[in-house]
Amino acid sequence: MKINRLALCGNWILERFPLAKVWEEHMTHYYAPKNFNFWYFFGSLALLVLVNQFVTGILLTMNYKPDAKLAFDSVEYIMRDVHWGWLVRYMHSTGASAFFIVIYLHMFRGLMYGSFKQPRELIWIFGMLLFVALMAEAFMGYLLPWGQMSYWGAQVIISLFSAIPVIGDDLSLWVRGDYVVSDATLNRFFAFHVISVPLVLVMLVFLHIVALHEVGSNNPDGIEIKKYKDANGIPLDGIPFHPYYTVKDVVGVAVFLVFFATVIFYMPEMGGYFLEHANFIPADPMKTPEHIAPVWYFTPFYAILRAIPDKFAGVIGMGGAIVVLFLLPWLDRNPVKSIRYRSGIYKKALLLLVISFIGLGYLGTQPATPELTLIARFLTAIYFGFFLLMPIYTRWEKTKPVPTRVTEVHSLEEQLHSLEEQLPALLEEITELKPKATSEISDPAFRSSFFRRRPNPEGIFNVMTRLGKKIKASLD
Ligand code: HEM
Repeated sequence: MKINRLALCGNWILERFPLAKVWEEHMTHYYAPKNFNFWYFFGSLALLVLVNQFVTGILLTMNYKPDAKLAFDSVEYIMRDVHWGWLVRYMHSTGASAFFIVIYLHMFRGLMYGSFKQPRELIWIFGMLLFVALMAEAFMGYLLPWGQMSYWGAQVIISLFSAIPVIGDDLSLWVRGDYVVSDATLNRFFAFHVISVPLVLVMLVFLHIVALHEVGSNNPDGIEIKKYKDANGIPLDGIPFHPYYTVKDVVGVAVFLVFFATVIFYMPEMGGYFLEHANFIPADPMKTPEHIAPVWYFTPFYAILRAIPDKFAGVIGMGGAIVVLFLLPWLDRNPVKSIRYRSGIYKKALLLLVISFIGLGYLGTQPATPELTLIARFLTAIYFGFFLLMPIYTRWEKTKPVPTRVTEVHSLEEQLHSLEEQLPALLEEITELKPKATSEISDPAFRSSFFRRRPNPEGIFNVMTRLGKKIKASLD
């Protein structure tokens, strides 16, 4: 009898380790709502970018030197002499910005569909802790190339701690390990960036997912699929995460990689937004750059800091802008989760939040002139208004009735059937009937009644517009 050694080996492991059980519980028997849309790609994309940062980070560490005298040159060495070093570095630097784009969209999805509300408060809290850890990771990583902006950016941000009464000066000295940003600072930031914070990130991602799988995913309708189950206890509106969403996520990953690769290969500095121009000049403690600005993902918070006239109040404002996000599950008093069934007030408030956040982000990149500071103050007020007035405006919202089952999900048969019905009309629209030129028809008997079909640009345009609108509506 032939012995299958591979199967034996597999069984040996499975008898000692709950691999199959975990896979079943969290993949093949984890039921996710069947109406996930575009916005549900960003969680898995965040995981992808996290892995990218780990892999490229480890490769960079092999040639990077955490020493104030060598750091800048070691990065240049990676860019010019190490095989594929330029690619690894650009994947890491672009990955940092991609991480924040993905995370901001991921958080925005939460705001749209009320994913932070009961019973998902802990998922949100772990998410916010991830966000803070991510900011710390990015801030410390940015010092490592030891360029002008690395150096002076760190100098400005660390000196903010000194605004705290009583302990401020000692605290900033403690963080820097010196009276100014120096080799000591670079060494500790390297240690935190390479090992401590990544460990925290991994731990928090684990807690984030465990909390998510305990209560189950929310969805664009904001209804709890666990309320309606079949005789076997399977949610009627749920589908197994694997293979349905693993396959769907592959599409998101492919589209993401097209954008990611385009940036890496054609615009890795992104006009100075992803890698600032001043950071291609070695750090010079004797020469302050004319205009110091953090990387784009910090600029909304930096603009809030600058908008407030008093330094300490500015620090509180900047910290407060993050603290209010933590409090969101308790600030929103409306039980309706999804924006689809919420009032115009919430939709407008969310739109204002987005405008203020993007506006502040832009202002944070610009020099603080009196006019721009005034605008920044106005946008700061809107930003905080969204959160602090929330307990009031969400209580009085007039919401729409929430359905009991998920909407807009049609079986494949239903979709094919409706396509079959619509197809002749669509074909009719994208082509037009034109009488054939009489000269082309040889038989004079047919001359008056012979027609042919030709593409109809107007019809094609109409069909494409309707298709675009349909796609947009499905994304909403
Ligand atoms: C490293 C960072 C992060 C990773 C890797 C990550 C990963 C994920 C994944 C894989 C999911 C499930 C898929 C999905 O719903 O999209 C998820 C869900 C969720 N995440 Fe994150 N996340 C991160 C950061 C954050 C942050 C910063 C927040 C907000 C503060 C957040 C809030 C949420 C919420 C509320 C859900 C549940 C969404 C729902 O069920 O509708 N996450 N996350």
